[in-house]
Amino acid sequence: MAKKKRVLSGMRPTGRLHLGHLVGALSNWVRLQESYNCLFMIADWHALMSEYEYYENLNEYIVDNVIDWLACGISPDESIIFLQSEVQEHLDLYLLFSILTPMGWLERCPTYKEQLQNLKRRSIQTHAFIGYPVLQAADILIYEAELVPVGEDQLPHLELAREIVRRANYYFGVNLPEPQPILTEVPRLPGLDGRKMSKSYGNVINISEDPDEIKRKVAKMITDPARIRKTDPGHPDVCSVFMYHKVFSKDEVNQIRKDCQAGKIGCVECKKRLADAIINVLTPIQEKRRELEKNKDVVRDIIRRGNNQAREIAGRVWRKIREKVWG
Ligand code: TRP
Ligand code: SF4
Repeated sequence: MAKKKRVLSGMRPTGRLHLGHLVGALSNWVRLQESYNCLFMIADWHALMSEYEYYENLNEYIVDNVIDWLACGISPDESIIFLQSEVQEHLDLYLLFSILTPMGWLERCPTYKEQLQNLKRRSIQTHAFIGYPVLQAADILIYEAELVPVGEDQLPHLELAREIVRRANYYFGVNLPEPQPILTEVPRLPGLDGRKMSKSYGNVINISEDPDEIKRKVAKMITDPARIRKTDPGHPDVCSVFMYHKVFSKDEVNQIRKDCQAGKIGCVECKKRLADAIINVLTPIQEKRRELEKNKDVVRDIIRRGNNQAREIAGRVWRKIREKVWG
């Protein structure tokens, strides 16, 4: 039997996880566990690099995010769940890669340019932040992971990782694989207000969100602006509520589309059904969450065990690289 390929992905523990994480990443990760050897990493160094001003809750979010992962079906028996900062070799390879990475590659990186322009945050004009994608490349290659499930926004980082790998292979003969992305096909969910979904806009529903709060939040969502009365024909394809239905109400979605276009369902009713559908999906997850929240030591143990498993692989790969470079 062919050896299963290795997959690595990660999330920054900068807050509670929301429906965007569930739909865009976690449900995909859960599926990938069947066919690949997966490593799922809490990227705490990356969280610190980008948000070191708000580091107070780091430890709380690390455990809380892993609780969400486990509740959604990431299994510590199938996959390695670990904390980036607990595996020293990430930083070794990061520095080795930094030596080979021209400043121009990093300055040209679209995510970096966007962050600088959009946020105008002086706090991220740091040595570490411009090297963000270099650490990400090291995260992947210290496990020789061949596949990386990421959102579209992360594609430039993966492209950069491949360029760095080619350079490392050329200069040091280390023979690392060029990692490829696994893109999720799910449509990107907008935020509740129609803008990009982001915790900093406050337009998200958390995985741990209370059901009553879900109802309130969904009731306030933006719909088709051209629709005033219930009998007006609606345009589901411009309506955020409908985009959520596509994801959460798979059985009902065609009927909802027809009823909306025919003016047979009102937006109030349509949103009630959406809230119910979301609550339906989240209920079993939240039940597992409550269990795990009562047993945080179990969660910490899972992370500790994952750290050890990750260290073993990373140590092996690093020794191989060291031999090539140091001789
Ligand atoms: N940069 C990723 C994000 O913000 C998180 C991340 C860090 C990551 N290292 C990674 C993702 C390695 C994939 C592979 O979403
Ligand atoms: Fe959107 Fe539903 Fe209203 Fe149609 S009925 S506009 S899909 S909320």
